[in-house]
Amino acid sequence: MSTRKARIGLVGLGVMGANLSLNIADNGFDIAVYNRSTDKVDDFVADAGALVDRVIGCKSPEELAASLQSPRAIILMVKAGEAVDKTIETLLPHLDEGDMIIDAGNADFNDTRRREADLSAKGFAFIGMGVSGGEEGARHGPSIMVGGPEGHYAVIQDVIEAIAADYQGTPCAAHLGPDGAGHFVKTVHNGIEYADMQLIAEVYGCLRDRMTPSEIGQVFADWNDGPLNGYLVEITAKVLGATDTGTDQPMVDVIVDAAGQKGTGRWTVIEALKLGQSPSTIEAAVAARSWSAQRDARAHAQDLFGAATMDTPPSLADLHDALLAARILAYGQGMTLLNAASDEFDWDLDLARVAEIWRAGCIIRSTLLDDIAAAFRGETPHGQLAFAPAFVTRLQDTVPALRRVVGAGTAAGVAMPALANALAWFDTMRHARGTANVIQAQRDFFGAHGFERLDRDGTGFHGDWPA
Ligand code: 6PG
Repeated sequence: MSTRKARIGLVGLGVMGANLSLNIADNGFDIAVYNRSTDKVDDFVADAGALVDRVIGCKSPEELAASLQSPRAIILMVKAGEAVDKTIETLLPHLDEGDMIIDAGNADFNDTRRREADLSAKGFAFIGMGVSGGEEGARHGPSIMVGGPEGHYAVIQDVIEAIAADYQGTPCAAHLGPDGAGHFVKTVHNGIEYADMQLIAEVYGCLRDRMTPSEIGQVFADWNDGPLNGYLVEITAKVLGATDTGTDQPMVDVIVDAAGQKGTGRWTVIEALKLGQSPSTIEAAVAARSWSAQRDARAHAQDLFGAATMDTPPSLADLHDALLAARILAYGQGMTLLNAASDEFDWDLDLARVAEIWRAGCIIRSTLLDDIAAAFRGETPHGQLAFAPAFVTRLQDTVPALRRVVGAGTAAGVAMPALANALAWFDTMRHARGTANVIQAQRDFFGAHGFERLDRDGTGFHGDWPA
């Protein structure tokens, strides 16, 4: 057993864990690593190259605990869910009071809240830390969203800030609030990720009958030089330009049109609904992934009803502006959801700070986030990004194009659920007088649920309904 003591430990040497460990070592910190199947520990040490002197490979939780400076800080990068609880169970007998466990997986924030309460009652520190950026981000600088007691974060802040992505000299890592705040923010990040991916896919869908994938890729590459600049637009240009070497076909043309999902998008929607929120673009994106998976049923429906194409497809300029408008609305809906959760759980989330740490390292990084951060540092009436002066102007400029694109799709019978639902939210919000008076009347008619009146104060009025 080694006599050296590392600054930090990590359990779970999958792709993300291994890359995060190398990132930590690369930034000058000694790291002790452990994995349940210990051959991964050997492989990791063997592949550590020049960083091997900063790495301590451990074959048991006991050895890991013995290889760490006190108070111990151990990052978990294991599959979200039961594996996290099981790993914590195996570690606890080897830890001392005051030692810290940091869950860096895509955890359900409800689990994080439970674990934090549970471990703090036992005298341990627990941090729930959302990490975004995929494999590349983990190795060279992810965006890191931290939740848990602020004093506990202070113990590892230097390590976290050193390994995080850098945006113009500022680390993309922050302590955002207590208990599950970090994992909730990561969940909503992923919800926005789902929405933005779906919006991009819908725009691709408008173009693919008249352009080749690589031509569409070039459109996205051009757009990436303007206000739509961001990681997801950038990689869309790349994936559309790629060729399958086996068949010489465009790569996207040999990929089955059924999207996978591990659950974070769905969690965003579930938590939003619990909070009385409805982030329509994210809901639509989750729905679209589920519908995409029903391939056989879709083939059957095409036989029954026929498929549609747009006779007069939208112009590239309209698609650009429609994507921009819908992206603004999607980010805005995510931010509104964060605000609602912050109120509900007393997190006091700083939305400008959240936008700032998303500006580099994470999957939804985009030029827009700098403007979003500025908007939340200024005036956002009703907490709505869309109502911030700079975004009012941008939406006035771009929503007409969104309307034309959705109109063309609807008229032709081509689905664009995320674009259409972004517009539905916008159009609902801009009508001070909606139609829910009829719903209230119906509720009172069949269940005497009562309503409020425009002409009188008070609640619980009933209508003079016919029998
Ligand atoms: C990130 C990503 C990352 C992962 C998602 C994919 O921020 O780095 O969001 O967490 O790519 O888990 O989620 P789905 O498998 O649900 O698309």
